[in-house]
Amino acid sequence: MTDRKKAEEEIQMDWGMKNRLSRMIKPATGRSVMLACDHGYFMGPTNKLENPRKTIEPLLPYADTLAVTRGVLRNCVDPKWDTPILLRVSGGSSILKDDLGDEEITASMKDAVRLNVAAVALSIFVGTAHEKQTLVNLSKLVDEGGEYGMPVMAITAVGKELDKRDAKYLALACRLAAEIGVQVVKTYYCEDFTKVVNGCPVPLVVAGGPKLNTEEDVFNLAFNAVREGAVGVDMGRNIWQNENPVAMIKGIRAIVHENANVREALQVFNENKKTPSTQRIENPIHA
Ligand code: 5RP
Repeated sequence: MTDRKKAEEEIQMDWGMKNRLSRMIKPATGRSVMLACDHGYFMGPTNKLENPRKTIEPLLPYADTLAVTRGVLRNCVDPKWDTPILLRVSGGSSILKDDLGDEEITASMKDAVRLNVAAVALSIFVGTAHEKQTLVNLSKLVDEGGEYGMPVMAITAVGKELDKRDAKYLALACRLAAEIGVQVVKTYYCEDFTKVVNGCPVPLVVAGGPKLNTEEDVFNLAFNAVREGAVGVDMGRNIWQNENPVAMIKGIRAIVHENANVREALQVFNENKKTPSTQRIENPIHA
């Protein structure tokens, strides 16, 4: 971060806001590995996230932040676990609808404070029929977040139109979110990602998107995103839909926090993945 950016941040943020942000984006590296487990809010029992607690628990020691809805938080996350929570507060459409952008705010700031979360997250659907509605939702959330010292993350969602994820579109969507006043933006990695980073004066993290073909593809995405200026990832399916989710998140951590390259991350993955013998021990059917 440049000195100017740092100074601007000091001026605009009060203590609570700064404290919450520094729980998510670790001051030691200025980066974050966020674990996204909020897919159920529109996708229902997503593959490998059918039982959220079972998916989340083994991964939490390696996550700087956990992204969930309040329903999953209250029912599947132990309040004694101390991982900071990024609370999804937008929704209103399901995967059954063609247009996923018809969202409203679905959890109040008062409940977010009651749940002691580190930040709230809301999707915006720029360029869709619901552009204005979602941008106004975001503005309201930023106003309330300012009152309570609660950071707001905007998610530049594309719904089912995954091919929208190019630099021109994402730079526009991220900039709009920053102009509204969010503290963090989650977007997608794309070709010419630096254009997205350069046009966005707040920290960016990248989503993983649908499961990629290989571990190397996932590590490449994370490596390039961080090298080009993202402060980390908010990744879900490419971690927990992998056969070896813990090995996967450890590889991602190496890239985000230790500046590992893709080869080194693959080494971390291979060292931590289950061997056929450990798989047999863990699964009594094969014992
Ligand atoms: C769901 C989300 C997800 O949190 C986001 O897409 C990150 O997860 P993934 O890496 O699986 O794409 O916003 O609506």
